[in-house]
Amino acid sequence: MPGDALSQDPALLRGRIDTTKAHPARVYDVFLGGKDNYPVDRAAAAAALAANPRGYLDVRHNRDFMRRAVTRLAQEQGIRQFLDIGTGLPTAENVHQIAQAIAPESRIVYVDNDPVVLAHARALLTSSDEGRTDYIDADLRRPAEILEEAAKTLDFDKPVALLLVAILHFVEDEEAYPLVRELVAALPSGSQVVLSHLTDEMHPEPTRAVQRTYTERGFTFVFRSKAEVERFYTETPDLTLDEPGVVPAHLWHPGPAPAPPAVDEAYFESLDDIEKIRYRDINDVTDDDINVYGAIGTKA
Ligand SMILES: C[S@@+](CC[C@H](N)C(=O)[O-])C[C@H]1O[C@@H](n2cnc3c(N)ncnc32)[C@H](O)[C@@H]1O
Repeated sequence: MPGDALSQDPALLRGRIDTTKAHPARVYDVFLGGKDNYPVDRAAAAAALAANPRGYLDVRHNRDFMRRAVTRLAQEQGIRQFLDIGTGLPTAENVHQIAQAIAPESRIVYVDNDPVVLAHARALLTSSDEGRTDYIDADLRRPAEILEEAAKTLDFDKPVALLLVAILHFVEDEEAYPLVRELVAALPSGSQVVLSHLTDEMHPEPTRAVQRTYTERGFTFVFRSKAEVERFYTETPDLTLDEPGVVPAHLWHPGPAPAPPAVDEAYFESLDDIEKIRYRDINDVTDDDINVYGAIGTKA
């Protein structure tokens, strides 16, 4: 619950956070060049990077797909409400900063089930005065709870963009397809579903090598093929895929990614491979690098 979640007793919250094991949200933060992570998370990221040295491009391009998708929805479709499930740790540009830079009145509800994200959630509540942001501490596998809480901030009579960006790979088929149907059923006509998803279909070897490094650390992903990602749209009533369909994330309405922070060359060379990631320009991406699909669909 928005208010209740953020006023949790800090000691209780700390009790929910395990700093001895790598957490997906914190490992993801390492790849984005963030600071909200622990040595175990950096070790997990380093092992994944050893298995696929350009693997950071999947993470950075996934995030850039999200940036382009939100920008396009706000700018061209006039979307003013966003439900971002699987938010991740706050980073340089969160959904509300992207959307409110275009339309300050935009409302954004963030949802994540990781206590690490909850602990940092105040950085997501820096809304413009005209708009609003809220945070819900909830699980994607309980859509009814999310919808009930989100309705306190979002008007479900007006279009909503549902963001399921790099989260469905944490959920097995039996729950994943029905939960998307349940969430979409609550959205009015004109709503949009933004989805990105890891796949081992394009480059099986490096992707599975990375997967093994995570499995050893106790977390795992459900890879899905293009056809399986398309099913999220084709098996959901009233939902149709928009052009260009399900495509590698860097090819979805491609455009230049923002330049990385400037860095002194000698300083850059002194950094380890993980520390270097935040200074890398991702515009050198090729089709051989990417293992994430991106797509948007519209509810009739
Ligand atoms: C890989 S990060 C993606 C962050 C952000 N959506 C992005 O793409 O940049 C996945 C996030 O989903 C969250 N997550 C995983 N399973 C979840 C679940 N069942 N319910 C809610 N959040 C979940 C994790 O805690 C993590 O913060």
